[in-house]
Amino acid sequence: MLWMAPMAEVTDSAFRAMAFSGGADRCTTEMVSAAGLSRGSPGSLPLLERLPEERGATFAQLYGADPHQMEEAARRVAALGRFQGLDLNAGCPAPKVLRCGGGAALLEDLPLLRRLVAALVRGADGLPVSVKTRVGPDPARPLAAELARIAEGEGAACLALHGRYASARHSGPCDWPQVAAAAAAVRIPVFANGGIRSPEDALAALRASGAAGLMVGRGAVGCPFLFAEIRAALAGAPLPRPAPPPNETAPGASPPSAATLARRVAPVADVVAAVRSHLALSLALKRRMKANHPECDFEPERAVALDFRRHVFTYFRNRPGASALRRRLNDLHSPADILAAVADCFPDAPR
Ligand SMILES: Cc1cc2nc3c(=O)[nH]c(=O)nc-3n(C[C@H](O)[C@H](O)[C@H](O)COP(=O)(O)O)c2cc1C
Repeated sequence: MLWMAPMAEVTDSAFRAMAFSGGADRCTTEMVSAAGLSRGSPGSLPLLERLPEERGATFAQLYGADPHQMEEAARRVAALGRFQGLDLNAGCPAPKVLRCGGGAALLEDLPLLRRLVAALVRGADGLPVSVKTRVGPDPARPLAAELARIAEGEGAACLALHGRYASARHSGPCDWPQVAAAAAAVRIPVFANGGIRSPEDALAALRASGAAGLMVGRGAVGCPFLFAEIRAALAGAPLPRPAPPPNETAPGASPPSAATLARRVAPVADVVAAVRSHLALSLALKRRMKANHPECDFEPERAVALDFRRHVFTYFRNRPGASALRRRLNDLHSPADILAAVADCFPDAPR
């Protein structure tokens, strides 16, 4: 099973619709504050809007450190009837999450983690619950098997395990043997996450971890096709494009040549079609948010352009024309501006 990782300010319903159409089996929402949801704060519910085009099983991710709030928030999300499961964020090192005692801070308080999983399961009203966590707070304290036993013991249906320690944040190698230890310790499925940017990475992660499936994060941002490519590789099909070498982004590594990069990118026509679809979905989502939550203080066309500045560049990474697009990002104020910039920077793409 291939699962799109939760990513704040990235995995909204428009992005998830793209991930499903690119071959993901499951997605996760952006993280949502359990405290905010349980209090009915106006900022939280718009994050849980869902487009009809998002066709697939999506888990809503909650973060927090108060079991009562977690249970109440879970109940509210389950009552929306929009999601197929709930996920506990027990690995995020972002300051706003650590400040409230949630995310990776839970790796320092396993009794609280246990109570939060139990609270989420109680509030989930029968929906499956997953726990997304790390292999431990730092390499001196590997905890993967213990975390898996906690999740299973409190009724979670599966575990998504980021193979990096919280101290490494989002870079560096994954400790796949720790993921393997977690998978061996429990009967619930364990999904391996971290650094999967290509079918080769996916095959290597599965081999090294013995996980039941994979969770992909940044590798699928700007490349929703990655899921189908991984699936084809798992089925034994020849790999469509050469993989980036593992050390390419290491500090001091020399940049890949233009010829290497050109062989590694998807056809520009596919990419432009994906950008158009993603942009249209993003606009539909902003309009839906505004219609259902009139207190949302944005104008959909302008808001989508601001958000999409973050996405559009990721689609064209590693491609001639990408730097010209990057220079124009701050001048993109509407969906029409975005499409015009893409047409100017990639004149070979079909209109
Ligand atoms: C911009 C960004 C936002 C993220 N937001 C979340 C989040 O909301 N919840 C969460 O559990 N993890 C979050 N993560 C971590 C990812 O889900 C994933 O575990 C991490 O990026 C490692 O996977 P990757 O190497 O495939 O990207 C985020 C990561 C990034 C880079």
